[in-house]
Amino acid sequence: MDARHVPVLLAETLGLLRVAPGDRILDATVGLGGHSEAILESVGGEAWLVGLDRDQAALDIAGERLARFGDRVRLVQSRYSRFAEVLEELGVEAVDAVILDAGVSSLQLDDPARGFSFLADGDLDMRMGGATEGEAPAVTLLNKASYQRLREIIRDYGEDPQAGRIARAIVAAREKRPITRTLELAAIVEAAYPARWRATARQHPATRTFQAIRMAVNAELAELEAFLERIPDYLRPGGRVAVIAFHSLEDRLVKRAFRREATGCICPREQMSCVCGHVARLRILTKKPIIPGEAEVAENPRSRSAKLRAAVRFEPDVEREGGRP
Ligand SMILES: C[S@@+](CC[C@H](N)C(=O)[O-])C[C@H]1O[C@@H](n2cnc3c(N)ncnc32)[C@H](O)[C@@H]1O
Repeated sequence: MDARHVPVLLAETLGLLRVAPGDRILDATVGLGGHSEAILESVGGEAWLVGLDRDQAALDIAGERLARFGDRVRLVQSRYSRFAEVLEELGVEAVDAVILDAGVSSLQLDDPARGFSFLADGDLDMRMGGATEGEAPAVTLLNKASYQRLREIIRDYGEDPQAGRIARAIVAAREKRPITRTLELAAIVEAAYPARWRATARQHPATRTFQAIRMAVNAELAELEAFLERIPDYLRPGGRVAVIAFHSLEDRLVKRAFRREATGCICPREQMSCVCGHVARLRILTKKPIIPGEAEVAENPRSRSAKLRAAVRFEPDVEREGGRP
């Protein structure tokens, strides 16, 4: 199989999720179906899986790949912040295992027409769900957002030290005519980079800007935050959740959400006795995030920045986590 289609941190994810025959599984980002297929295979097909993706093109491919599991698989086009509504519509109250493999797929990156790539010419769209979700495409953001907003997006999501110069160059270029094509944006960003940075850069100067714009267009952090807030409510006791993040801001959200749910009282330190009533529901399974080994990175460079964290919902009466009184 094409290395770009190989699921990231697969063995590690399977080891943490410990799916058993009869389990109900939620794959929040089914993508090309790689993780789903391996999870179902690991229990001889004896499990039931709901797979979500906001990208219908991905679901079509996953549908073919998972067809042999028949009606044990339900694929639904949805953003994962709405997973609870989808489960409720399917009459599923809770699940035993959840996988979320965030970010962009090779399918999206490789299709110039979708506008994710700075290496091939296409319209600046970058919506993972295409036009179906009513979100504005990248072209709108690039031509309408203020200098300030563009600078923040490129600095925070792209972690690009040249964010100010790039945002200024975008604003100057669009004053002449709207920026509509991927290669146009790539050239504007490249020209905004100081020559000595261009000469020493290990990646194309537009890499970080494209990532940043994509994250903003798809509200990726807000999506993840909404998912993390609700997922413990939908895990059965003993149910496990695994999240693979590709960006430090994503990983920080996962770390904080798991920590919060693994803590009893979350009152401010100065509070003498608990007034929040917060009860721990998760136990963290990964003290530190699991990252791919050298062999996986060599085989699949996309895995380079992956970080996997997992947690398990408490079994009542088996494990207890005390808060302050
Ligand atoms: C890295 S790929 C998943 C690959 C998959 N695990 C596999 O093994 O084939 C990420 C997928 O998540 C989808 N996605 C990203 N953000 C999403 C969101 N907020 N809601 C639903 N799907 C999302 C993308 O469309 C993409 O198909």
